Amino acid sequence: MPEPETSNVAMLPRPPTMGAGTSSSTDGRDRSVRRKTRRSGEYYLRAQGSLAGGVSSTVRRGARPYPLFFERGAGSRVTDVDGNVYLDYGLAWGPLILGHAPPEVVEAVAAQARKALTFGAQHELEFEVAERLTALVPCADLVCFACSGTEAVQTALRLARAVTGRSKYLKFEGHYHGWDDTVLVNYHPTADEIRAAAGRPIPVGAGQHPHDTVVVAEWNDRVAVEKAFEAHGQEISAIICEPLLCNSGCLPPSDGFLPFLRDITSSTGTLLIFDEVITGFRLGLGGAQAHYGVTPDLATYAKALGGGAPLSALAGRRDFMDWIAGGRVLHAGTLNGNPLSLAAAAATLDALARNGGELYDHLWSRGERLRTGIEQILVNAGLMAVTSGVGPVFQVSFMPTRATKYRELLAADTALYGDFALALLDEGVLVLPDGRWYISAAHTDEDVEVTLRAVERAAPGGAWSSPA
Ligand SMILES: Cc1ncc(COP(=O)(O)O)c(C=O)c1O
Repeated sequence: MPEPETSNVAMLPRPPTMGAGTSSSTDGRDRSVRRKTRRSGEYYLRAQGSLAGGVSSTVRRGARPYPLFFERGAGSRVTDVDGNVYLDYGLAWGPLILGHAPPEVVEAVAAQARKALTFGAQHELEFEVAERLTALVPCADLVCFACSGTEAVQTALRLARAVTGRSKYLKFEGHYHGWDDTVLVNYHPTADEIRAAAGRPIPVGAGQHPHDTVVVAEWNDRVAVEKAFEAHGQEISAIICEPLLCNSGCLPPSDGFLPFLRDITSSTGTLLIFDEVITGFRLGLGGAQAHYGVTPDLATYAKALGGGAPLSALAGRRDFMDWIAGGRVLHAGTLNGNPLSLAAAAATLDALARNGGELYDHLWSRGERLRTGIEQILVNAGLMAVTSGVGPVFQVSFMPTRATKYRELLAADTALYGDFALALLDEGVLVLPDGRWYISAAHTDEDVEVTLRAVERAAPGGAWSSPA
């Protein structure tokens, strides 16, 4: 048996690496956090003895000083195993749109659990949630359910191949569509990897199938898309994108870019797929397609749809979804449409839709106040910092100007961001290691103010390197 490859670790998903730039000394913060999170440190060591890497998803390894262990959450706050309480802006990487353990969702799941955990057969919640989706999502004439965003994306791509009879698809650099071989390509390549690849697809991690069905273009680059269609047009079944590029810098589509994608796909008989795993039910009830006013052929949902329960959906135009309805395209899964997840989704969607979706007004206004407040504090501290994205999901980056495409993000000082995130943790604010911030409907105006004061203390140049 050959030794396991270790060189692939450097290729695994990570935030874009920094260009130049240095990080401030954070020894004091590091010591302070380690002191407060001793039990997490012990658990992490113990977990590594039986659980590969000590975590259940590779991207969680990026946390500093080490991945923490948690015990409970309520509303905007989460408590770790050492009893530290944090204001949470990671929100489990996005799903917790209503915050931690919202009582009505917990009650709905508990009530369902008392009746049955799963059937592997039909029940009312399936069509009840499906009917809500077809009412709320512009492209949704029909939907089908699975358990993860990765599965929903695979179903969408398979459907596009079946409908068009073409084998390739086009994706954009920096966009993430789950961890299946077919899509795990050109996610966060370094400048060196981009140079070495010379235009060929760049796989993430070892052991992948060859990427001979993917064509990669740069986000917001019409010419690159046109060239791809000139070279491969007859073979491209679909364009897939995150309509707001949340997985790399929260980069919005440039003016006219989504309509351009709509036009070029319509005129070439290609399907347009919006991967709304993050934007769905986060930007609003109609997701990014309603927000930007562009309707794709198919769209994928997960994260906020389940409010914390494992649920995903593929939604789309009837003439395409009929291929699944008629059994010509296979869509299967033991736990698909399980009642626990659908009970969580029904309760989550009820809360989100109440009073004409008024929760979104809070989500947007508090998120925008937080986003602009953080940027102002960092800039006032003399830092080259920018934010991008929108209130419900945004990115904080240490770089001079806002990026419009993935490659520009390579100039960001991600090490400095790591220091900042560590200092925030020390101040009782939990953020993701990659610079993305999520806000929930449970975050209050006071939470935002408390967070901004913590940002002032954590900002490099403030109490940055003071040993606590
Ligand atoms: C845009 C997007 N698509 C797909 C996925 C994959 O979803 P899951 O992790 O549920 O498989 C993710 C996960 O973060 C995502 O952000």
